[in-house]
Amino acid sequence: MLLHIPDVLSKEQVAGMRRVMDGAEWTDGRQTVGPQGAKVKRNLQLPESSVLRQELGSIVVAALAHHPLYHAAVLPLRTLSPRFNRYEGGGEYGFHIDGAVMTTGDADTHIRSDVSCTLFLSEPDEYDGGELIVSDTYGEHEVKLPAGDAIVYPSSSLHRVTAVIRGARSASFFWVQSMVRDDGARRLLLELDTAIRNLSANGAEQASILQLTGVYHNLLRRWAET
Ligand code: NI
Repeated sequence: MLLHIPDVLSKEQVAGMRRVMDGAEWTDGRQTVGPQGAKVKRNLQLPESSVLRQELGSIVVAALAHHPLYHAAVLPLRTLSPRFNRYEGGGEYGFHIDGAVMTTGDADTHIRSDVSCTLFLSEPDEYDGGELIVSDTYGEHEVKLPAGDAIVYPSSSLHRVTAVIRGARSASFFWVQSMVRDDGARRLLLELDTAIRNLSANGAEQASILQLTGVYHNLLRRWAET
């Protein structure tokens, strides 16, 4: 499921982050990928060890904690500390698949990447190119969102970022292990959750809403790993 999550960060939050990011020291993005990824990755990243990366990452995590659609869609269990990247001067990232298991900052903890997330930190008119292309069974989807908006997609998808041929594209990206591993099951839960919310907002009969809410939670109980 490829889903647009609007308004994760306010324009003020984006501007604040961009001010410090634009003056930051960046390193070669190939430092965080294996040999296969290194062949196709041409971008910059905030260094893994940088205090700034950790500070900015906690702003992103805090913002997501308050976003109902993000939670309903992703059902997050563990989140890898967000990273930040920058594409400019023809920088691009060719087709690749994200690693299945990733190590967190604490030595022995791992997460399984179920959901990949890109949070755009540049406005679309600041750069040309830089589309995120996600390939799934329905074909290729081209994504370029306003600053402060995010896209979530299954980590099992092939994807790439096209070359940035004008300006610069900054973004945050991270991976989530979901309570519900299967993308199709997550989609069903989101659709059910959305329908229940709409029925409640439209003043539908309470007993049926209660019954559907029970179905939601009993499906989640069946599918959730914690
Ligand atoms: Ni990727």
